[in-house]
Amino acid sequence: MFKFLLKNLYNIEPKSFGLDISNKSYKFIQLRESKKGIDLAAFGYGDVKDGVIENGEVKNEDALVEILKEAIKNPTKGKLTTKHVVFSLPEEHSFVRILQLPKMSKEETREAIKWEIEQNIPLQINDVYFDWQIINKGDAKVNHQDILVAVVSKSIADPYISVLKRIGLISVAMESESISVTRSIIKGFSTNIPVLVVDIGATITSFIIFSGKTLRFSSSVPIAGDKMIESISKKLKVDKKEAKRLFYEVGFDKKLDKDGKVTEALEVAFSELISQIKSYISFYEGHSEHDHGSKKKNIQKIILSGGVSNLYGITAHISSVLKIPTELANPWANILKEPLNEVPDLSYRRSLGYTTALGLALKGIKK
Ligand SMILES: Nc1ncnc2c1ncn2[C@@H]1O[C@H](COP(=O)(O)OP(=O)(O)OP(=O)(O)O)[C@@H](O)[C@H]1O
Ligand SMILES: [Mg+2]
Repeated sequence: MFKFLLKNLYNIEPKSFGLDISNKSYKFIQLRESKKGIDLAAFGYGDVKDGVIENGEVKNEDALVEILKEAIKNPTKGKLTTKHVVFSLPEEHSFVRILQLPKMSKEETREAIKWEIEQNIPLQINDVYFDWQIINKGDAKVNHQDILVAVVSKSIADPYISVLKRIGLISVAMESESISVTRSIIKGFSTNIPVLVVDIGATITSFIIFSGKTLRFSSSVPIAGDKMIESISKKLKVDKKEAKRLFYEVGFDKKLDKDGKVTEALEVAFSELISQIKSYISFYEGHSEHDHGSKKKNIQKIILSGGVSNLYGITAHISSVLKIPTELANPWANILKEPLNEVPDLSYRRSLGYTTALGLALKGIKK
């Protein structure tokens, strides 16, 4: 995706590291290929102060330059050995869709995509970066082409490009978080059933539908960990610090939650998220008629990722409310060989918050 940023010298594709910048945090990872397979060369993470990025928009470029300049010099583990970077774009400002168009020439397809983009988002084509990929190429049985299109406005993306340039990095590619997440957790980039990935971070929850060999839809809502902690704080009348402790240590664990108050607060916070998931699923199931990737049309499985997927009892809660089997993601699915051993320095549990960074890093070492 977004190869328009590729600065190739004599067609040598440099290895890159992956950088995930969220509203409240940054995470980066460099992977390394060796004879034994792929392993973790370096990674780092830290906070992004309030007010620097708001709702995915860079509000203070100078502050972000300072934060990231220090961060990349001092990884938590290892050293970055490249200045080439693949970075993520905020999901709340990305438009990722499958378009269905009649078979036609590449030039005509490009023109038709531009037209479709202008119909779907309130921006002029000159004000956006867009990229596309034909999904059902070579499929002679169907008379149309399914095209995965990703769009982001230049006004959102340009400040990130400018910040990375100011700290001496070379932006090789940028992509929507939903694409990075699926690259790290969908094993072999293929499923024989439609799945819904729910990535719950601190400020944003992304819904991503993947079926066959491609992402079908993605969307996001601003209901995530921060709001859940706030809900505990209000319901139990405790400060944020205590609410966070209860969130981490009690969660949906009924045995630890003596008077049931934490569960109650969480159920309220989750009910809004769950009703969003429900409407998203019915939207997809109403539009899945042109999904040739899978024989089944309904969502068969929910996969959870993001830091909040560490919450005790979250899979049981979601599967019991939605009546859809729910499991935790494996962010190493396309990186490490099975059986999955713990990665020293970045445990399986912690890596659930690194799905975006891992997907970007994987793009950084693969063509
Ligand atoms: N062990 C844990 N138990 C419960 N919640 C956790 C745990 N570890 C992290 N979290 C929660 O996960 C969230 C952070 O997740 P993640 O790192 O995916 O978010 P982010 O990418 O920084 O945020 P966003 O993309 O939403 O702006 C926080 O709300 C944090 O409280
Ligand atoms: Mg995130």
